[in-house]
Amino acid sequence: MSTMMKNSPKDTEHFYLQWTFSKLMAFFFLLISLSYLFYSLRFVSHSYDCDQQNPVSSINHISSIDATAIEEIPKPHEETNISHIVFGIAASAKLWKQRKEYIKLWWRPNQMRGIVWLDRKVETEWKDRNLLPPLKISEDTARFSYKNPKGHKSAIRISRIVSETLRLGNTEGVRWFVMGDDDTVFVTENLLKVLQKYDHNQFYYIGSSSESHLQNIYFSYNMAYGGGGFAISYPLAVALEKMQDRCIQRYPGLYGSDDRIQACMAELGVPLTKERGFHQFDVYGNLFGLLAAHPIAPLVSLHHLDVVEPIFPNTSRVQALKRLQVAMKLDPYGLVQQSICYDKTRTWTVSVSWGYAVQIFRGTFSPREMEMPARTFLNWYKRADYTAYPFNTRPVARNVCQKPFVYHLWDAVSTSNGTKTEYVRTQSNPECKWKMVDPSQIRRVEVYKKPDPLFWDKAPRRNCCRVVATKKKGTMVIDVGVCREDEVVEL
Ligand SMILES: *[C@@H]1O[C@H](CO)[C@@H](O)[C@H](O)[C@H]1NC(C)=O
Ligand SMILES: *[C@@H]1O[C@H](CO)[C@@H](O)[C@H](O)[C@H]1NC(C)=O
Ligand SMILES: *[C@@H]1O[C@H](CO)[C@@H](O)[C@H](O)[C@H]1NC(C)=O
Repeated sequence: MSTMMKNSPKDTEHFYLQWTFSKLMAFFFLLISLSYLFYSLRFVSHSYDCDQQNPVSSINHISSIDATAIEEIPKPHEETNISHIVFGIAASAKLWKQRKEYIKLWWRPNQMRGIVWLDRKVETEWKDRNLLPPLKISEDTARFSYKNPKGHKSAIRISRIVSETLRLGNTEGVRWFVMGDDDTVFVTENLLKVLQKYDHNQFYYIGSSSESHLQNIYFSYNMAYGGGGFAISYPLAVALEKMQDRCIQRYPGLYGSDDRIQACMAELGVPLTKERGFHQFDVYGNLFGLLAAHPIAPLVSLHHLDVVEPIFPNTSRVQALKRLQVAMKLDPYGLVQQSICYDKTRTWTVSVSWGYAVQIFRGTFSPREMEMPARTFLNWYKRADYTAYPFNTRPVARNVCQKPFVYHLWDAVSTSNGTKTEYVRTQSNPECKWKMVDPSQIRRVEVYKKPDPLFWDKAPRRNCCRVVATKKKGTMVIDVGVCREDEVVEL
């Protein structure tokens, strides 16, 4: 400042300009040499990396530059996948030995997250290592009051599974808690397909009612049945955990765990979002009617598999489920999806439940009849009749001629042309005097279907089936797929 004062204003200006110019030049050179220096240093460090046998380091470098550029663009929505779900499985030590076989059917050891919650320690078997989720013993619930004369106090322990799982921490990336019993079998791809529809950042309680109207009246139509399984979004689980122990104390008279969860959901003001593919299966006997006419919704779960008959004849329960899984793996979205068509030349009605069974009926049945489950099963309340189902059903035909010819899944393979499933008849039909072509000549049915990865992303619609002409003896060939333009199920 003082030197500038001595010079004339003009000189000062000149000096100032000169000074700035040389400073700029110096700065410029400094910049060039610095960047040169950095460049060579980088080069040196790279060749050093190369010496350390890292040939991809230069590629890494490029991709890291690209990544920072991409970070500024908003991320696309990341679809829910298996790593976003934590399963909480309610089990009891008493039944563990049989029930663990159901869990092994669907559990994917290195992909899934979850815990089996037991009431006490169980023996673990060497052959099961790495095939089951980790086991944990639930917290003691002695401090909670339970006053239902018919139920069991373990209900409190089971209703707290979501909260206890949450308190364990390790919830990074968790979007959903999915509850199930030890006798629940999930169809994972369909569970994912259902959850992908919902925003996991909001409060969701997703599941389904019972097949028994009386159960739903006794518990609630607003309750998700835990055997069929239900999903609670992460933020809802957090909200539940904060209030659940207080909430439970307000309902000592309730029967089970599911109604205790629902009572707390009602306090939180969160309704049940119903998805028809979760199956509690509060029925006895043969599930055939329900699986042969499934609603147009992805099959998410099966429950009470110890209570009902094996889903395929002449096999064990677990073997039968394994057979269903052969088809499931080829086309989970298509599993047990019904399609209805007619064999026009022989006047038969054909109903396909893909991956499960095919039925051939003499004569013409309308789709509105065929889409109703036949009552092959019995009501949960043995004295209740068909008016006690919360959905339409139809009676099993009394007339011997109207009894369907049933073909159960035998084999499923993938071909270059899509899936080929084969169904065979194992049970004979009674004698019929109708003067029309007898389906008993058909011993096996072949169904061709291309998996449709977008099936559930579209408005729900049944697939169409077509009876295809064939020279194979004793075989019916059927093509199943998206209905063509103007294709209607009519004779
Ligand atoms: C699931 O999605 C996450 C992103 O949220 C991703 O990092 C992960 O690799 C995906 N996992 C699978 C098994 O697809
Ligand atoms: C039932 O299974 C057994 C053994 O798996 C077999 O020997 C028998 O022939 C089967 N019966 C029928 C009716 O398919
Ligand atoms: C593939 O399927 C179509 C019907 O969906 C059929 O016409 C065709 O013959 C099949 N091709 C092979 C090689 O099986």
